[in-house]
Formats: sequence, structure tokens, C-alpha cells
Amino acid sequence: MRHLIDIMDFTTAEIDELITTALDIIENPDKYRDVCRNKKLATLFYEPSTRTRLSFTAAMMELGGQVLGFSDAKSSSVSKGESVQDTVRVVENFADIIAMRHHTEGAPLEASQVAHVPIINAGDGSHAHPTQTLTDLLTISREIGRLNNFTIGFCGDLKFGRTVHSLIQALSRYENIKVILIAPNELKLPSQYKIGNIIKDVETIEEVLPELDVLYMTRVQQERFLDQDEFEKVKDSFVINLHKLQTAKPTMRILHPLPRVNEILAEVDSDPRAAYFRQVGNGKFIRMALIYKLLLWSNK
Ligand code: CP
Repeated sequence: MRHLIDIMDFTTAEIDELITTALDIIENPDKYRDVCRNKKLATLFYEPSTRTRLSFTAAMMELGGQVLGFSDAKSSSVSKGESVQDTVRVVENFADIIAMRHHTEGAPLEASQVAHVPIINAGDGSHAHPTQTLTDLLTISREIGRLNNFTIGFCGDLKFGRTVHSLIQALSRYENIKVILIAPNELKLPSQYKIGNIIKDVETIEEVLPELDVLYMTRVQQERFLDQDEFEKVKDSFVINLHKLQTAKPTMRILHPLPRVNEILAEVDSDPRAAYFRQVGNGKFIRMALIYKLLLWSNK
């Protein structure tokens, strides 16, 4: 049984196969209309989501399959104290594949230890978000035409940002990727995620913006702070506007997993370098590829 709990669960060849499949889905959607007929995806979302849950739902529908699940754990028997493992033992009777988001790090891993269907981690605490990483890789590949030989700056909340943690891990597998970390002291990248070719660790965007091929912005996540005064101190640290972008390469691309709060001003949205809404669209195509391939790889 194959699961996707951490992006490193997949080989580089498997990630490349998913990207190639997503590109084929974009070019030839009719080929894939029915490949998941009679299959069901369960979306078990213990934490709020717009993009991830709805893109999984749209992805399965476009593959000809069906979707069930919950978007609010309070409406399920979780509210009566049912464990993640018991919930999965129940839901696997009704679904062929499960996508789970949970506020607790490691919950999807726990689920995968008892599951007889593939489990996809749709984000667990501040640990990992591997399907966002697949979305990001597809976006970089489509926007700049390659997955090697570029410089990427990660900006904002690098401490709690699970999308950053997963993407840095994935990029360490590709050739000649230079990583620049841009974060206030309070939100620096934890040491366990410092892998790959990190060439600089700075505290302002301005000093590195002209070097970047990709700027990966993140939201400072209020919900991850135990001390709300600390949140107030750093929340406006890093804001991108059109004035700052004057020093950036015309070919640079801005990615953001979204939702944003105020870290990218709305005036930037119409700049061709703003790729974050195109990135959302890529999320559906890569999740189509993932559901299709993970079922095949698991003989389901
Ligand atoms: N990028 C992302 O995970 O968005 P949602 O929280 O809306 O799913």
C-alpha cells in the first residue's frame, strides 16, 4: 500500500511522473475523464481549508469518481472522542482513498499505520503539506520552464510554515537550486529543515530580491502562536508591493500557498510575476495525477 505522508515518501522519478501526468491531464483532459469511475475519495478535514479540500474534490470529480467526507470534525463522531485510527478503520469501508488534514503533526502517519487504502496527508500541524509541494513544483515547472538551476527565496513564516518545510525538502533533490531564507528572528527555519543548498539567511526582502527567480511568500500564521503579543510584533514584517518589485527580475515568479493576509498587496495581483492564482489551478491538476497514480501504485 502506498501513502503520501511526507514528500520524501516519493522518489524523484515518481514526483516527475506525477508532474508529467498533470501536464498530460492539462493537455488531454478527455483521456482522464473516466479513469476513477466507481472510485470514492474521502476527505477528512479536521482543520479549515478552502483550496486543498475543494481541489481534491474537483480533482476526483473530473476523474469520474465520487467524494464523501467531512470538513468540520465537530459534525463527525470525532466530537464523541473517536480516534484518528478508528475513524480511518471505519471510513476505509466506504472509500478507496483518503485525504486527511489534521491540526496534530503525525496524525496522517498514524492513520496510514492501520489503513488498507492509500492515505494522503493534506497538511498536518506545522509539519508537512506534500500535496502543496507537488502543486508548487508543477507551478515552478510551468512558470519558469525547469526544475533545476534557479534561486528561490522563502519569505515570511519559515518556522511554522509546513508548505515551506515540504518544498525545501523536495527541492534538495533537484540540481543547482539555491535557497535564500528571508524571515524575522522569531520565524526562522527550524534546523531539521535546513537541507539543500541554503546560500543566505537574511532578515529583509530588499537585500536579495534582485537575485531571485522565484519568491515563495507565506502568511504569518496567527493560529500557530502561543503568545499573541509575539504575533502582533512580527505580523507586518514582510509585505510585497509594486514599488519593491521594481528591483526584481521581470522573469521572477511570486508563489504563495495562500491564503494571504497582507503580505502581498492586491496591487501586485495584476503583475505578470504574480503566479499565486495560477498556482491554485495547478493544485487541481496535480491532485488529479496523484489520486490516479496512487490508486494504480497501490493496486486499487
Ligand atoms: N494552500 C492551502 O493549504 O490552502 P487551504 O488551507 O485553503 O487548503
